[in-house]
Amino acid sequence: MTAAIRPMVAGNWKMNGTRASLDQIRAISEGVSGALSEKLDALICPPATLIYVATTLTVDTKLLIGAQDCHEKARSGAHTGDISAEMIADCFASHVIVGHSERRAEHHESNHTVSKKARAAYDQGLTAIICIGETREEHAAGRTMDVMKTQLVESLPDDATPENTVIAYEPIWAIGTGQTPGPEQVEDVHAAIRADLVERFGAAGEGFRLLYGGSVKPANARELLSVANVNGALIGGASLKADDFLAIYRAYEDILTS
Ligand code: 13P
Repeated sequence: MTAAIRPMVAGNWKMNGTRASLDQIRAISEGVSGALSEKLDALICPPATLIYVATTLTVDTKLLIGAQDCHEKARSGAHTGDISAEMIADCFASHVIVGHSERRAEHHESNHTVSKKARAAYDQGLTAIICIGETREEHAAGRTMDVMKTQLVESLPDDATPENTVIAYEPIWAIGTGQTPGPEQVEDVHAAIRADLVERFGAAGEGFRLLYGGSVKPANARELLSVANVNGALIGGASLKADDFLAIYRAYEDILTS
């Protein structure tokens, strides 16, 4: 089951990164070139302004490049400031994050919108990284599982597959706070997500990658990434520095051999 899933260590740069940051992309691509790259994937999602140059820099390396959002319409149109899945694919990116909690909160994106964005990604051959996660209040009220279930049902299109979709569980209260759920809590939520996926998609549900996100750092990576049904990480702040990202990536040296 989980053991057969190829893990992914992904970085979400959010609204960070200028041309000077391309040195970090270069260093990360060099750092993910070893034997470990046969066993797991590494992805960086820089801001849209850097996607094309990042894919150009990382041609013939193992580092994948993705986007942080796309419009729900897959192709061009009158949507000032937005970016289509077609444009992302045209820049040779392979993945796109949709439904990040910051987009949901700041741009009022509903589960329904997130599902449409994932469809737009599929339409252009991109893999959608669909984010779900509860607020601090929902967590405190013991509503995590209910919230997850609804978000999962409504944000995932019916034609989601383990090839075109990655799920990222990101408790909002853990993002950028240095706080993380304990490994047992992560295990419970990921087990529930897995069960929901199997209920909906049958055997294919066993194959989806489930990433954990929220204050993943070199110091806690091994513990969090060892949890059952955690098939990788979606990293914010710690992905901005190649050394930190690579330290998290290398946590898999122990995990995959133990
Ligand atoms: P941090 O790793 O900075 O907590 O951010 C997590 C995140 O939101 C990744 O998408």
